[in-house]
Amino acid sequence: MTSTPLEEIIIRHTTPEDLPAFRELRLKALKDHPTAYGSDYEEALLKPLSYWEGRLAIIEKEQAMFLAEHNGQLIGMTGIFRNMTKKNHHSASIISVYVRPEWRGKHIAEALIRTCLDWAIKHEVVIVKLAVVTSNASAIRSYERCGFKLYGTDPKALYIDGVYYDEHLMALEILHPKKE
Ligand SMILES: CC(C)(COP(=O)(O)OP(=O)(O)OC[C@H]1O[C@@H](n2cnc3c(N)ncnc32)[C@H](O)[C@@H]1OP(=O)(O)O)[C@@H](O)C(=O)NCCC(=O)NCCS
Repeated sequence: MTSTPLEEIIIRHTTPEDLPAFRELRLKALKDHPTAYGSDYEEALLKPLSYWEGRLAIIEKEQAMFLAEHNGQLIGMTGIFRNMTKKNHHSASIISVYVRPEWRGKHIAEALIRTCLDWAIKHEVVIVKLAVVTSNASAIRSYERCGFKLYGTDPKALYIDGVYYDEHLMALEILHPKKE
């Protein structure tokens, strides 16, 4: 476990220059934790550059991707995207939560998620949702610490190498002050 003070970790928006390191980090997350994500490592590996540019989520209004960085190295990521139809535009989802193994246990995921929640508040999102495999105790703990509450379980949400995985569905409602 490193003793790096948390102040030396920067949480920031992605920039176009992050693309290669971001792709590497995301592919590592998908390869090392196949049950943690809906996306598949082998499929992601074959995606064109345009796909990765989209995932970088530079467009502020609909989505944002945040990175944790230490000494120029990307050590974690978390994204948020809002739904875009007239009837679900009030809601958003947390995606791609990942922290490198050597940096875990320092609440970096919490810092990333809270940054996403700040983005949600700024963009007047009313409810933020996420899905997490029921056995992923450390992720669930992070989400609960950020205020997410369980509202259901999606049975057999993922099917990986012949095994089905249930996902817990969690949500956090954002209370906005009433406009005059
Ligand atoms: C889930 C994940 C993002 C949590 O990141 P993190 O920054 O380590 O989160 P936290 O520091 O808040 O730790 C959460 C819990 O993990 C456990 N934990 C503590 N140290 C840990 C370590 N070194 N390694 C793994 N888990 C640890 C603890 O229970 C901790 O909660 P606590 O501090 O209240 O006791 C990270 O483990 C990860 O990237 N996992 C693989 C990908 C994944 O599962 N993503 C989530 C998809 S829904």
